[in-house]
Amino acid sequence: MLKPSVLNELKEIVGPSHLFTSPEELVVYSYDATRTEALPWAVARPASAREVSDILILANRERFPVVPRGAGTGMSGGSVPVQGGVVLSLERMNAISEIDEENMFAVVGPGVVTGELQREVESWGLMYPPDPASQQFCTLGGNVAECAGGLRAVKYGVTKDYVLGLEVVLPTGEIIQTGARTIKSVAGYDLTRLIIGSEGTLGVITKIILKLLPLPESVETVAAFFSDIDSAAKASSKIISSRIIPRALEFVDQAALRAVENYLKQDLSGGAAAMLLIEVDGPAISTKVEIDYIEALCRQYGAVKVKKAENDAEREYFWKARRSISAALYTIKPKKINEDIVVPRSRIPDILREMAGIAKRHGLLIVNFGHAGDGNIHTNIMIDDADLPRAKEAVKEIFESVLRMNGSITGEHGIGMTKAAYLPMEVGPAALDAMKKIKKALDPNNILNPGKIFLNA
Ligand code: MLT
Ligand code: ZN
Repeated sequence: MLKPSVLNELKEIVGPSHLFTSPEELVVYSYDATRTEALPWAVARPASAREVSDILILANRERFPVVPRGAGTGMSGGSVPVQGGVVLSLERMNAISEIDEENMFAVVGPGVVTGELQREVESWGLMYPPDPASQQFCTLGGNVAECAGGLRAVKYGVTKDYVLGLEVVLPTGEIIQTGARTIKSVAGYDLTRLIIGSEGTLGVITKIILKLLPLPESVETVAAFFSDIDSAAKASSKIISSRIIPRALEFVDQAALRAVENYLKQDLSGGAAAMLLIEVDGPAISTKVEIDYIEALCRQYGAVKVKKAENDAEREYFWKARRSISAALYTIKPKKINEDIVVPRSRIPDILREMAGIAKRHGLLIVNFGHAGDGNIHTNIMIDDADLPRAKEAVKEIFESVLRMNGSITGEHGIGMTKAAYLPMEVGPAALDAMKKIKKALDPNNILNPGKIFLNA
Protein backbone atom coordinates (compact mmCIF):
# COMPACT_ATOMS: atom_id res chain seq x y z
CA MET A 1 0.00 0.00 0.00
CA LEU A 2 1.11 3.55 -0.61
CA LYS A 3 1.51 6.10 2.19
CA PRO A 4 -0.78 9.17 1.86
CA SER A 5 2.33 11.34 1.45
CA VAL A 6 3.45 9.23 -1.54
CA LEU A 7 -0.01 9.45 -3.08
CA ASN A 8 0.23 13.21 -2.73
CA GLU A 9 3.60 13.25 -4.46
CA LEU A 10 2.16 11.16 -7.31
CA LYS A 11 -0.75 13.60 -7.55
CA GLU A 12 1.69 16.48 -7.82
CA ILE A 13 3.56 14.74 -10.64
CA VAL A 14 0.60 13.84 -12.89
CA GLY A 15 -2.04 16.28 -11.63
CA PRO A 16 -4.93 15.31 -9.32
CA SER A 17 -7.29 14.32 -12.14
CA HIS A 18 -4.79 11.77 -13.48
CA LEU A 19 -4.22 9.76 -10.31
CA PHE A 20 -6.91 7.14 -9.63
CA THR A 21 -7.38 5.36 -6.32
CA SER A 22 -11.08 4.45 -6.10
CA PRO A 23 -11.95 0.72 -6.38
CA GLU A 24 -14.12 1.36 -9.48
CA GLU A 25 -11.20 3.03 -11.24
CA LEU A 26 -8.60 0.50 -10.12
CA VAL A 27 -10.59 -2.47 -11.40
CA VAL A 28 -10.51 -1.04 -14.94
CA TYR A 29 -6.70 -1.31 -14.92
CA SER A 30 -6.52 -4.71 -13.23
CA TYR A 31 -6.72 -7.22 -16.10
CA ASP A 32 -5.70 -8.01 -19.67
CA ALA A 33 -6.99 -10.33 -22.41
CA THR A 34 -5.93 -13.42 -20.41
CA ARG A 35 -8.72 -12.46 -17.96
CA THR A 36 -6.16 -12.64 -15.11
CA GLU A 37 -6.81 -9.95 -12.51
CA ALA A 38 -4.88 -8.15 -9.76
CA LEU A 39 -5.79 -4.77 -8.33
CA PRO A 40 -3.15 -2.01 -8.41
CA TRP A 41 -2.79 0.33 -5.44
CA ALA A 42 -3.11 3.38 -7.68
CA VAL A 43 -3.21 4.29 -11.37
CA ALA A 44 -1.15 7.21 -12.69
CA ARG A 45 -1.66 8.64 -16.18
CA PRO A 46 1.47 10.64 -17.03
CA ALA A 47 1.59 13.01 -20.01
CA SER A 48 5.37 13.14 -20.61
CA ALA A 49 8.66 11.28 -20.26
CA ARG A 50 9.57 13.74 -17.48
CA GLU A 51 6.49 12.69 -15.46
CA VAL A 52 7.27 9.00 -16.03
CA SER A 53 10.81 9.65 -14.85
CA ASP A 54 9.63 11.44 -11.68
CA ILE A 55 7.32 8.52 -10.87
CA LEU A 56 10.16 6.01 -11.29
CA ILE A 57 12.52 8.05 -9.13
CA LEU A 58 9.82 8.12 -6.44
CA ALA A 59 9.20 4.37 -6.85
CA ASN A 60 12.90 3.64 -6.29
CA ARG A 61 12.96 5.83 -3.19
CA GLU A 62 9.78 4.29 -1.74
CA ARG A 63 10.25 0.82 -3.28
CA PHE A 64 6.86 0.27 -4.91
CA PRO A 65 6.23 -1.66 -8.16
CA VAL A 66 5.39 0.25 -11.34
CA VAL A 67 3.53 -1.58 -14.11
CA PRO A 68 3.40 0.10 -17.55
CA ARG A 69 0.14 -0.40 -19.42
CA GLY A 70 -1.12 0.29 -22.94
CA ALA A 71 -4.66 -0.78 -23.83
CA GLY A 72 -4.58 -4.01 -21.79
CA THR A 73 -5.04 -6.28 -24.82
CA GLY A 74 -1.99 -8.44 -24.00
CA MET A 75 -2.31 -12.21 -23.98
CA SER A 76 0.26 -13.29 -21.38
CA GLY A 77 -0.60 -11.17 -18.32
CA GLY A 78 2.14 -8.60 -19.05
CA SER A 79 0.19 -5.56 -17.84
CA VAL A 80 -1.48 -7.20 -14.85
CA PRO A 81 -0.14 -5.70 -11.58
CA VAL A 82 0.42 -9.05 -9.83
CA GLN A 83 2.44 -7.51 -7.02
CA GLY A 84 0.26 -4.40 -6.70
CA GLY A 85 1.94 -1.01 -6.97
CA VAL A 86 1.18 1.75 -9.44
CA VAL A 87 -0.16 1.06 -12.91
CA LEU A 88 1.38 3.57 -15.30
CA SER A 89 -1.16 4.03 -18.06
CA LEU A 90 0.36 5.60 -21.18
CA GLU A 91 -3.04 6.38 -22.72
CA ARG A 92 -2.58 10.17 -22.63
CA MET A 93 0.65 10.06 -24.64
CA ASN A 94 -1.32 9.46 -27.82
CA ALA A 95 -0.05 11.97 -30.37
CA ILE A 96 1.17 11.15 -33.88
CA SER A 97 3.70 13.96 -33.68
CA GLU A 98 5.38 13.57 -37.06
CA ILE A 99 4.98 11.84 -40.40
CA ASP A 100 8.05 12.29 -42.59
CA GLU A 101 6.79 11.40 -46.05
CA GLU A 102 10.13 11.78 -47.79
CA ASN A 103 12.09 9.64 -45.35
CA MET A 104 9.13 7.36 -44.66
CA PHE A 105 8.96 7.32 -40.88
CA ALA A 106 6.49 8.37 -38.20
CA VAL A 107 7.09 9.56 -34.64
CA VAL A 108 4.34 8.54 -32.23
CA GLY A 109 3.51 8.41 -28.55
CA PRO A 110 3.03 4.98 -26.93
CA GLY A 111 -0.71 5.56 -26.48
CA VAL A 112 -1.51 5.84 -30.21
CA VAL A 113 -3.92 3.10 -31.32
CA THR A 114 -2.24 0.94 -33.98
CA GLY A 115 -5.19 1.11 -36.40
CA GLU A 116 -5.31 4.88 -36.08
CA LEU A 117 -1.67 5.19 -37.22
CA GLN A 118 -2.40 2.80 -40.07
CA ARG A 119 -5.34 4.85 -41.31
CA GLU A 120 -3.38 8.08 -41.00
CA VAL A 121 -0.32 6.88 -42.93
CA GLU A 122 -2.52 5.25 -45.59
CA SER A 123 -3.98 8.70 -46.31
CA TRP A 124 -0.38 9.70 -47.17
CA GLY A 125 0.04 6.69 -49.50
CA LEU A 126 2.16 4.92 -46.88
CA MET A 127 1.81 1.74 -44.86
CA TYR A 128 2.62 0.60 -41.31
CA PRO A 129 2.49 -3.18 -41.77
CA PRO A 130 2.32 -4.83 -38.28
CA ASP A 131 -1.36 -5.60 -37.65
CA PRO A 132 -2.14 -7.54 -34.47
CA ALA A 133 -5.70 -8.94 -34.53
CA SER A 134 -6.58 -6.29 -31.92
CA GLN A 135 -5.29 -3.41 -34.10
CA GLN A 136 -8.44 -1.33 -33.69
CA PHE A 137 -7.88 -0.98 -29.94
CA CYS A 138 -4.31 -2.03 -29.01
CA THR A 139 -1.67 0.70 -28.70
CA LEU A 140 1.80 1.04 -30.21
CA GLY A 141 3.63 1.24 -26.88
CA GLY A 142 2.22 -2.16 -25.95
CA ASN A 143 2.99 -3.48 -29.45
CA VAL A 144 6.65 -2.49 -29.00
CA ALA A 145 6.87 -3.76 -25.41
CA GLU A 146 5.52 -7.17 -26.51
CA CYS A 147 6.97 -7.15 -30.04
CA ALA A 148 3.49 -7.77 -31.41
CA GLY A 149 3.14 -9.73 -34.64
CA GLY A 150 -0.07 -9.99 -36.58
CA LEU A 151 -1.60 -11.26 -39.76
CA ARG A 152 0.79 -9.65 -42.24
CA ALA A 153 3.97 -10.88 -40.51
CA VAL A 154 4.48 -13.63 -43.07
CA LYS A 155 5.55 -11.05 -45.66
CA TYR A 156 6.33 -7.92 -43.66
CA GLY A 157 7.73 -9.18 -40.34
CA VAL A 158 6.78 -8.03 -36.85
CA THR A 159 6.97 -4.87 -34.76
CA LYS A 160 10.74 -5.05 -34.20
CA ASP A 161 11.28 -4.83 -37.96
CA TYR A 162 9.73 -1.33 -38.00
CA VAL A 163 11.16 0.36 -34.91
CA LEU A 164 14.02 2.70 -35.86
CA GLY A 165 14.40 4.26 -32.44
CA LEU A 166 12.80 4.91 -29.08
CA GLU A 167 12.66 7.31 -26.19
CA VAL A 168 12.74 5.20 -23.04
CA VAL A 169 12.64 5.97 -19.35
CA LEU A 170 14.90 3.48 -17.61
CA PRO A 171 13.68 1.83 -14.40
CA THR A 172 15.83 4.19 -12.32
CA GLY A 173 14.39 7.27 -14.06
CA GLU A 174 17.01 8.27 -16.67
CA ILE A 175 15.51 9.30 -20.03
CA ILE A 176 17.40 7.87 -23.01
CA GLN A 177 17.09 7.97 -26.80
CA THR A 178 17.88 4.77 -28.72
CA GLY A 179 18.43 4.18 -32.43
CA ALA A 180 18.05 6.98 -34.97
CA ARG A 181 15.76 8.45 -37.61
CA THR A 182 17.67 6.59 -40.27
CA ILE A 183 17.43 3.13 -41.77
CA LYS A 184 20.98 2.38 -40.64
CA SER A 185 22.66 2.99 -37.29
CA VAL A 186 25.14 0.78 -35.47
CA ALA A 187 26.25 3.18 -32.77
CA GLY A 188 26.89 1.02 -29.72
CA TYR A 189 24.75 -1.78 -28.34
CA ASP A 190 21.32 -2.10 -29.94
CA LEU A 191 19.28 -0.82 -27.01
CA THR A 192 16.23 -0.46 -29.27
CA ARG A 193 16.11 -4.23 -29.76
CA LEU A 194 16.76 -4.83 -26.07
CA ILE A 195 13.70 -2.81 -25.10
CA ILE A 196 11.46 -4.27 -27.83
CA GLY A 197 9.77 -7.35 -26.40
CA SER A 198 11.07 -6.70 -22.87
CA GLU A 199 7.45 -6.64 -21.68
CA GLY A 200 7.70 -3.50 -19.58
CA THR A 201 10.48 -4.91 -17.39
CA LEU A 202 13.47 -2.87 -18.65
CA GLY A 203 12.05 0.57 -19.42
CA VAL A 204 8.95 2.63 -20.14
CA ILE A 205 8.56 3.53 -23.83
CA THR A 206 7.58 7.19 -24.19
CA LYS A 207 8.23 7.83 -27.90
CA ILE A 208 8.57 5.56 -30.94
CA ILE A 209 10.12 6.20 -34.37
CA LEU A 210 8.51 3.81 -36.85
CA LYS A 211 9.63 2.90 -40.33
CA LEU A 212 6.91 3.12 -43.01
CA LEU A 213 6.58 1.51 -46.44
CA PRO A 214 4.85 2.61 -49.65
CA LEU A 215 1.21 1.50 -49.74
CA PRO A 216 0.89 -1.39 -52.24
CA GLU A 217 -1.15 -0.67 -55.36
CA SER A 218 -3.37 -3.74 -55.20
CA VAL A 219 -4.63 -6.34 -52.71
CA GLU A 220 -6.34 -9.67 -53.53
CA THR A 221 -7.90 -12.02 -50.99
CA VAL A 222 -9.12 -15.60 -51.21
CA ALA A 223 -10.70 -18.01 -48.70
CA ALA A 224 -10.21 -21.72 -49.35
CA PHE A 225 -12.24 -24.37 -47.52
CA PHE A 226 -11.07 -27.94 -46.95
CA SER A 227 -12.78 -31.11 -45.76
CA ASP A 228 -9.81 -32.12 -43.57
CA ILE A 229 -7.12 -30.30 -41.60
CA ASP A 230 -4.21 -32.13 -43.13
CA SER A 231 -5.03 -30.96 -46.67
CA ALA A 232 -5.30 -27.34 -45.50
CA ALA A 233 -1.97 -27.61 -43.66
CA LYS A 234 -0.27 -29.15 -46.70
CA ALA A 235 -1.71 -26.49 -49.04
CA SER A 236 -0.37 -23.83 -46.70
CA SER A 237 3.17 -25.29 -46.76
CA LYS A 238 2.96 -25.69 -50.54
CA ILE A 239 2.04 -22.01 -51.08
CA ILE A 240 5.15 -20.89 -49.22
CA SER A 241 7.45 -23.41 -50.88
CA SER A 242 6.17 -22.29 -54.30
CA ARG A 243 8.09 -19.03 -53.62
CA ILE A 244 5.01 -16.80 -53.45
CA ILE A 245 4.98 -14.87 -50.20
CA PRO A 246 1.41 -13.76 -49.51
CA ARG A 247 0.98 -10.89 -47.09
CA ALA A 248 -1.31 -13.08 -45.00
CA LEU A 249 -1.75 -16.84 -44.85
CA GLU A 250 -4.09 -17.73 -42.03
CA PHE A 251 -5.34 -21.15 -40.93
CA VAL A 252 -8.61 -21.73 -39.07
CA ASP A 253 -9.76 -25.16 -37.86
CA GLN A 254 -13.33 -26.43 -37.69
CA ALA A 255 -14.03 -25.64 -34.03
CA ALA A 256 -12.78 -22.07 -34.50
CA LEU A 257 -14.90 -21.70 -37.66
CA ARG A 258 -18.01 -22.92 -35.83
CA ALA A 259 -17.32 -20.62 -32.89
CA VAL A 260 -16.93 -17.52 -35.04
CA GLU A 261 -19.97 -18.42 -37.15
CA ASN A 262 -22.08 -18.68 -33.98
CA TYR A 263 -20.56 -15.47 -32.63
CA LEU A 264 -21.23 -13.44 -35.81
CA LYS A 265 -24.43 -15.40 -36.59
CA GLN A 266 -23.29 -15.93 -40.17
CA ASP A 267 -22.32 -19.01 -42.13
CA LEU A 268 -18.86 -18.65 -43.59
CA SER A 269 -17.61 -22.13 -44.34
CA GLY A 270 -20.61 -24.29 -45.29
CA GLY A 271 -19.49 -26.88 -42.72
CA ALA A 272 -15.85 -27.18 -43.86
CA ALA A 273 -13.21 -28.73 -41.57
CA ALA A 274 -10.63 -26.01 -42.14
CA MET A 275 -10.12 -22.70 -43.88
CA LEU A 276 -7.10 -20.91 -45.29
CA LEU A 277 -7.44 -17.16 -45.70
CA ILE A 278 -4.82 -15.83 -48.06
CA GLU A 279 -4.02 -12.30 -49.18
CA VAL A 280 -1.42 -10.99 -51.62
CA ASP A 281 -0.42 -7.40 -52.33
CA GLY A 282 1.79 -5.53 -54.78
CA PRO A 283 1.44 -4.21 -58.34
CA ALA A 284 -1.99 -5.16 -59.79
CA ILE A 285 -0.33 -7.00 -62.64
CA SER A 286 1.28 -9.49 -60.25
CA THR A 287 -1.43 -9.83 -57.56
CA LYS A 288 -3.97 -11.07 -60.14
CA VAL A 289 -1.59 -13.76 -61.36
CA GLU A 290 -0.53 -14.74 -57.84
CA ILE A 291 -4.05 -15.08 -56.44
CA ASP A 292 -5.12 -17.25 -59.40
CA TYR A 293 -2.08 -19.45 -58.88
CA ILE A 294 -2.84 -19.77 -55.15
CA GLU A 295 -6.47 -20.60 -55.87
CA ALA A 296 -5.42 -23.36 -58.28
CA LEU A 297 -2.92 -24.70 -55.76
CA CYS A 298 -5.57 -24.87 -53.01
CA ARG A 299 -7.87 -26.80 -55.36
CA GLN A 300 -5.03 -29.16 -56.27
CA TYR A 301 -4.45 -29.83 -52.54
CA GLY A 302 -8.11 -30.66 -51.92
CA ALA A 303 -9.99 -27.38 -51.36
CA VAL A 304 -13.70 -28.14 -51.72
CA LYS A 305 -14.69 -24.48 -52.08
CA VAL A 306 -12.72 -21.35 -52.91
CA LYS A 307 -14.15 -17.84 -52.58
CA LYS A 308 -12.35 -14.75 -53.84
CA ALA A 309 -13.20 -11.38 -52.29
CA GLU A 310 -14.74 -9.36 -55.12
CA ASN A 311 -14.53 -6.02 -53.33
CA ASP A 312 -13.39 -4.31 -50.11
CA ALA A 313 -16.63 -5.17 -48.27
CA GLU A 314 -16.15 -8.90 -48.94
CA ARG A 315 -12.48 -8.67 -47.93
CA GLU A 316 -13.45 -6.89 -44.71
CA TYR A 317 -16.03 -9.58 -43.98
CA PHE A 318 -13.37 -12.33 -44.13
CA TRP A 319 -10.97 -10.38 -41.94
CA LYS A 320 -13.65 -9.41 -39.44
CA ALA A 321 -14.42 -13.12 -39.03
CA ARG A 322 -10.73 -13.96 -38.60
CA ARG A 323 -10.09 -11.15 -36.10
CA SER A 324 -13.15 -12.16 -34.06
CA ILE A 325 -11.99 -15.72 -33.37
CA SER A 326 -10.20 -14.94 -30.13
CA ALA A 327 -13.36 -13.52 -28.54
CA ALA A 328 -15.65 -16.05 -30.26
CA LEU A 329 -13.89 -19.01 -28.61
CA TYR A 330 -15.48 -18.11 -25.26
CA THR A 331 -18.79 -19.30 -26.75
CA ILE A 332 -17.32 -22.84 -26.54
CA LYS A 333 -16.12 -22.85 -22.90
CA PRO A 334 -15.75 -20.26 -20.15
CA LYS A 335 -11.94 -20.39 -20.12
CA LYS A 336 -9.11 -20.95 -22.55
CA ILE A 337 -5.38 -21.42 -22.30
CA ASN A 338 -4.19 -19.52 -25.33
CA GLU A 339 -0.71 -20.39 -26.57
CA ASP A 340 1.09 -18.95 -29.58
CA ILE A 341 3.61 -21.58 -30.56
CA VAL A 342 5.83 -21.27 -33.63
CA VAL A 343 7.40 -24.01 -35.72
CA PRO A 344 9.35 -23.87 -38.98
CA ARG A 345 6.45 -23.43 -41.38
CA SER A 346 7.04 -26.70 -43.21
CA ARG A 347 6.28 -28.44 -39.89
CA ILE A 348 2.74 -27.05 -39.57
CA PRO A 349 1.13 -30.34 -40.71
CA ASP A 350 3.28 -32.25 -38.16
CA ILE A 351 2.53 -30.00 -35.19
CA LEU A 352 -1.21 -30.01 -35.94
CA ARG A 353 -1.14 -33.82 -36.02
CA GLU A 354 0.80 -33.97 -32.74
CA MET A 355 -1.67 -31.61 -31.09
CA ALA A 356 -4.60 -33.73 -32.22
CA GLY A 357 -2.88 -36.69 -30.50
CA ILE A 358 -2.23 -34.70 -27.30
CA ALA A 359 -5.87 -33.50 -27.22
CA LYS A 360 -7.12 -37.06 -27.61
CA ARG A 361 -4.79 -38.50 -24.95
CA HIS A 362 -5.86 -35.91 -22.37
CA GLY A 363 -9.55 -35.80 -23.37
CA LEU A 364 -9.33 -32.07 -24.13
CA LEU A 365 -10.71 -29.81 -26.84
CA ILE A 366 -7.78 -27.99 -28.49
CA VAL A 367 -8.76 -25.35 -31.05
CA ASN A 368 -6.13 -24.16 -33.52
CA PHE A 369 -6.03 -21.10 -35.72
CA GLY A 370 -3.52 -18.48 -36.71
CA HIS A 371 -0.64 -17.41 -38.80
CA ALA A 372 0.23 -20.62 -40.65
CA GLY A 373 2.27 -18.63 -43.18
CA ASP A 374 4.90 -17.80 -40.56
CA GLY A 375 4.49 -20.99 -38.53
CA ASN A 376 2.73 -19.25 -35.62
CA ILE A 377 -0.36 -21.15 -34.47
CA HIS A 378 -2.74 -20.05 -31.72
CA THR A 379 -3.39 -23.19 -29.77
CA ASN A 380 -6.36 -22.76 -27.46
CA ILE A 381 -7.10 -25.40 -24.86
CA MET A 382 -10.75 -24.85 -23.99
CA ILE A 383 -11.39 -25.64 -20.32
CA ASP A 384 -13.61 -25.64 -17.26
CA ASP A 385 -11.85 -25.53 -13.88
CA ALA A 386 -11.95 -29.34 -13.68
CA ASP A 387 -9.88 -29.63 -16.88
CA LEU A 388 -7.01 -27.48 -15.59
CA PRO A 389 -4.57 -30.18 -14.36
CA ARG A 390 -4.87 -32.13 -17.65
CA ALA A 391 -4.58 -28.90 -19.63
CA LYS A 392 -1.30 -28.04 -17.88
CA GLU A 393 0.10 -31.47 -18.77
CA ALA A 394 -1.00 -30.91 -22.37
CA VAL A 395 0.70 -27.47 -22.51
CA LYS A 396 3.99 -29.02 -21.40
CA GLU A 397 3.73 -31.75 -24.03
CA ILE A 398 2.87 -29.21 -26.74
CA PHE A 399 5.90 -27.09 -25.83
CA GLU A 400 8.13 -30.20 -25.85
CA SER A 401 6.92 -31.08 -29.36
CA VAL A 402 7.45 -27.49 -30.55
CA LEU A 403 11.00 -27.37 -29.22
CA ARG A 404 11.77 -30.80 -30.74
CA MET A 405 10.81 -29.21 -34.08
CA ASN A 406 13.20 -26.27 -33.43
CA GLY A 407 10.31 -23.90 -32.81
CA SER A 408 9.54 -21.41 -30.06
CA ILE A 409 6.97 -21.40 -27.26
CA THR A 410 5.82 -17.87 -28.10
CA GLY A 411 5.76 -16.05 -31.41
CA GLU A 412 4.02 -12.82 -30.48
CA HIS A 413 2.21 -12.86 -27.12
CA GLY A 414 5.31 -12.90 -24.90
CA ILE A 415 6.20 -14.75 -21.70
CA GLY A 416 4.46 -12.48 -19.16
CA MET A 417 3.10 -14.51 -16.29
CA THR A 418 1.51 -17.32 -18.23
CA LYS A 419 4.71 -18.79 -19.71
CA ALA A 420 7.30 -17.87 -17.06
CA ALA A 421 7.48 -21.49 -15.87
CA TYR A 422 8.31 -22.67 -19.39
CA LEU A 423 10.89 -20.08 -20.47
CA PRO A 424 13.84 -22.18 -19.13
CA MET A 425 12.73 -25.09 -21.37
CA GLU A 426 13.44 -22.96 -24.44
CA VAL A 427 16.40 -20.77 -23.55
CA GLY A 428 18.37 -22.92 -21.07
CA PRO A 429 20.14 -21.88 -17.83
CA ALA A 430 22.98 -19.75 -19.24
CA ALA A 431 20.74 -17.53 -21.41
CA LEU A 432 18.23 -17.25 -18.57
CA ASP A 433 21.01 -16.13 -16.27
CA ALA A 434 22.21 -13.53 -18.81
CA MET A 435 18.66 -12.16 -19.06
CA LYS A 436 18.40 -11.91 -15.27
CA LYS A 437 21.74 -10.07 -15.11
CA ILE A 438 20.49 -7.50 -17.63
CA LYS A 439 17.34 -6.99 -15.56
CA LYS A 440 19.35 -6.59 -12.35
CA ALA A 441 21.78 -4.13 -13.96
CA LEU A 442 19.01 -1.86 -15.28
CA ASP A 443 16.50 -2.31 -12.47
CA PRO A 444 18.45 -3.02 -9.25
CA ASN A 445 15.37 -2.55 -7.04
CA ASN A 446 13.06 -4.66 -9.24
CA ILE A 447 10.63 -1.78 -9.67
CA LEU A 448 9.42 -2.25 -13.24
CA ASN A 449 6.77 -4.90 -13.80
CA PRO A 450 7.91 -7.44 -11.18
CA GLY A 451 6.63 -11.00 -11.45
CA LYS A 452 6.95 -11.14 -15.24
CA ILE A 453 9.12 -13.22 -17.59
CA PHE A 454 11.06 -14.95 -14.75
CA LEU A 455 9.47 -17.26 -12.18
CA ASN A 456 9.58 -15.77 -8.65
CA ALA A 457 10.84 -12.46 -10.05
C1 MLT B 1 -4.80 -13.40 -33.12
O1 MLT B 1 -4.00 -13.66 -34.00
O2 MLT B 1 -6.04 -13.47 -33.30
C2 MLT B 1 -4.30 -12.93 -31.81
O3 MLT B 1 -2.96 -13.12 -31.63
C3 MLT B 1 -5.18 -13.30 -30.68
C4 MLT B 1 -5.24 -14.71 -30.23
O4 MLT B 1 -4.28 -15.45 -30.28
O5 MLT B 1 -6.28 -15.14 -29.70
ZN1 ZN C 1 -1.99 -13.74 -33.52
